[in-house]
Amino acid sequence: MKRFALFALFVLVAAVLTSCGLYNSKMASDPADVETVAVVEDAATEQAEETAEPVVAATEEVVEEAKPAEPQIFEPGSFESPDRCKNCHRDIYNDWKESMHAHAWTEKWYQQDFMMAHHETDGATDLLCGACHAPIAARTGQLPPADGSMFDETAKRGISCDFCHTVTGLDQMYNMGHVSEPGNEKKGPRGDGRSLYHGVKFNENHTKADFCGSCHMVIHPANGTHIIDTWQDWKTNWYGEQNITCQDCHMTPTPGVQETPGRAALLGKWRDNMPYHGFVGASSYVQDAMGNKKQAEMAREYLKSAAEMKLAETVAGDGNLALTVEVHNVGAGHKIPTGTTYIRIMWLEVIVTDATGKVVYSSGLVDEKNHVDPDAVFFRVQFRDADGNLTGKSWRAQGIGYDRRIPAKGMDSETYQIALPAKGEYQVSTRLMYRSFTQATLDEAAERTGEEYPPVESVEMAAAQTRVVF
Ligand code: HEC
Ligand code: HEC
Ligand code: HEC
Ligand code: HEC
Ligand code: HEC
Repeated sequence: MKRFALFALFVLVAAVLTSCGLYNSKMASDPADVETVAVVEDAATEQAEETAEPVVAATEEVVEEAKPAEPQIFEPGSFESPDRCKNCHRDIYNDWKESMHAHAWTEKWYQQDFMMAHHETDGATDLLCGACHAPIAARTGQLPPADGSMFDETAKRGISCDFCHTVTGLDQMYNMGHVSEPGNEKKGPRGDGRSLYHGVKFNENHTKADFCGSCHMVIHPANGTHIIDTWQDWKTNWYGEQNITCQDCHMTPTPGVQETPGRAALLGKWRDNMPYHGFVGASSYVQDAMGNKKQAEMAREYLKSAAEMKLAETVAGDGNLALTVEVHNVGAGHKIPTGTTYIRIMWLEVIVTDATGKVVYSSGLVDEKNHVDPDAVFFRVQFRDADGNLTGKSWRAQGIGYDRRIPAKGMDSETYQIALPAKGEYQVSTRLMYRSFTQATLDEAAERTGEEYPPVESVEMAAAQTRVVF
């Protein structure tokens, strides 16, 4: 096992990303660029001003904290192929192969963002992104080049068995601080099993949320902006305090904490709980497009388990309906949305119809081009770039520009003022909706890459109805 210090390279990444300030002002004058996310962003800007939601800025402290770890480098071939593990761990393999982890490098939605970052930063982000999305390639010197042309078959398979099960420690809790010791001894949550093929050793890390958190916590190396904050959010909320881990919720086939008995391997012991390796989250759209129907359906279930809505309404003498829509985060161990919240959107749909079924008020509808009403109430994050514009490009982030999300076990509400046109009875229907991407992002990506993307799916997370009389 060889270990070289690539520290200098990471410092270079930081330096190039800092200089993106200059670079950005040039790029922002490109009209195609501005158009990209303009539709939704304009609305978000207005909202950010109107609602005066807490806007977090990068602090000196975080920048200090974000010093890169010293990356490890091993010989190509040091990590084993998941096909090897498949021979005995068949069920685990079959679940993992449809997970987002297995597709973390190859899926085209990731690739389009990665290549855009690559072009806009002259390759400075290649290893940064690859450290998490292609950890074996990044640790065996097969990345760069960014096009993956040096990847062997194992490196292509994203975050695979032998990456996770040869981790012995964590150097830092962001930007992938996993310490690897590849070899014949596999590390896991028990250590009491016996295998003819490999050694087995207990490693406490695998039982902890920190194991996931070191990747599910991304900090911009140049300015400390929190790009993904799932782990820190979890760590400081009720679930973190109770130590209800990421594994408890995400390594089970159905949402919520539960146990599924089974065997880890063909000749393995019978266990009360067998951690599910499909790592379901919210990616129903991508899973569906990749043909993984079962995983897509599970993601919809996860999304539906996260939220509940409540309505309160009063009608004034002049027919003004004050409708308060409450959204409660009841099932997620972190804010909703979480993860790449600068790419995802969650929004409210409100429709009021009269007794004949005619729509008298609507907000948050999807138009014929599959774009969401720009005046809808959005729950999402957007970054502020060097020119103070909102952006969904993580590498351009200089701080947080807009952040409205629903905390774990928490609630957010919005009051709509709606003028009812005449005396009568009205039906009020509201829904909380989720998208993995905005349609504008996909349209722009399709134009730039020539790739085809199916229209983005809108998933209903929760709904509530009521009747009002004027
Ligand atoms: C993203 C990291 C990750 C990947 C990828 C991954 N695992 Fe795991 N695996 C874990 C964690 C974490 C646990 C422990 C979960 C727990 O106990 O709560 C685990 C548990 C296990 C166990 C022990 C099960 C038990 O309870 O006895 C086996 C065996 C295993 N994994 C094999 C595999 C195989 C084979 C693959 C590839 C097909 C794989 N893992 C891919 C993280 C991973
Ligand atoms: C020849 C069959 C065989 C192959 C091939 C194999 N394993 Fe295993 N593995 C087992 C058996 C059997 C156990 C013990 C299961 C038990 O009793 O719970 C085991 C246990 C494990 C554990 C559990 C560790 C713990 O904490 O108890 C991990 C992790 C693991 N294997 C990873 C891998 C990985 C990664 C690969 C591929 C590189 C792999 N295995 C290939 C048979 C195999
Ligand atoms: C090596 C870094 C790494 C580790 C370790 C890791 N993840 Fe991930 N995880 C990722 C990346 C990267 C993706 C996104 C893949 C993609 O969409 O391209 C992801 C995706 C996911 C998703 C799917 C999200 C969605 O949108 O559907 C879930 C759920 C998840 N991880 C949970 C976990 C849990 C639980 C653990 C710990 C047992 C863990 N991850 C460990 C990097 C990691
Ligand atoms: C109490 C259960 C619970 C815990 C604990 C939990 N999650 Fe989740 N997670 C959910 C549910 C439910 C969803 C689907 C709703 C959503 O997207 O937020 C989800 C969604 C996700 C997503 C997909 C978000 C998106 O929109 O792309 C990721 C990634 C994720 N979780 C990672 C983690 C990580 C990492 C941890 C630990 C630090 C963790 N989760 C802890 C329940 C949980
Ligand atoms: C420290 C680990 C880490 C680093 C570094 C990282 N990512 Fe990720 N990335 C993740 C995790 C974890 C997720 C899953 C979150 C979720 O599903 O919401 C993810 C998800 C994504 C997705 C969503 C994919 C999909 O199909 O929905 C894109 C796009 C993405 N990352 C691009 C990038 C780019 C570009 C870079 C480099 C500039 C990068 N990432 C660097 C951990 C990382």
